Amino acid sequence: MNYKLINMKVFGDERGKLISIEGNRTIPFDIKRVYWIFDTVPNQDRGKHAHKNMEQIIVAMDGSCDFILDDGKTREKVVLNRPDIALYIGKNMWREMKNFSYGCKLMVLASDYYDESEYIRNYDDFIKELNK
Ligand code: TYD
Repeated sequence: MNYKLINMKVFGDERGKLISIEGNRTIPFDIKRVYWIFDTVPNQDRGKHAHKNMEQIIVAMDGSCDFILDDGKTREKVVLNRPDIALYIGKNMWREMKNFSYGCKLMVLASDYYDESEYIRNYDDFIKELNK
């Protein structure tokens, strides 16, 4: 499975807490794009796609959601519900996001610019792509 959970180093004191992410240092790629998902509602799923080339880091800054991760052979569920744990998803991983809390805030760091042609949005096509 081409994913991992990264425990982020937390700088904390009586003022609060701080976490820093540096491309190619704390995460395994250069950051080219940042986006965030917010105003989520339960029972509205997202994702349902894979990326041919892109790698991502996802952090639940607030709230929670489930990530279903699938490499074409195995399907695993990861619950993201902490701002100090980052989910790394590598190439060729099918992902579905479900069970959002109201107003979950997901920050996503991506290894490349947005390119719709690089998405695989159909599960059968994903399996075909793996077997090429
Ligand atoms: P979508 O891929 O459906 O989001 P999710 O992965 O959470 O299911 O993206 C929603 C819309 O936003 C879609 O029209 C594509 C657009 N979009 C961009 O224009 N740039 C981006 O960087 C991203 C991630 C999405």
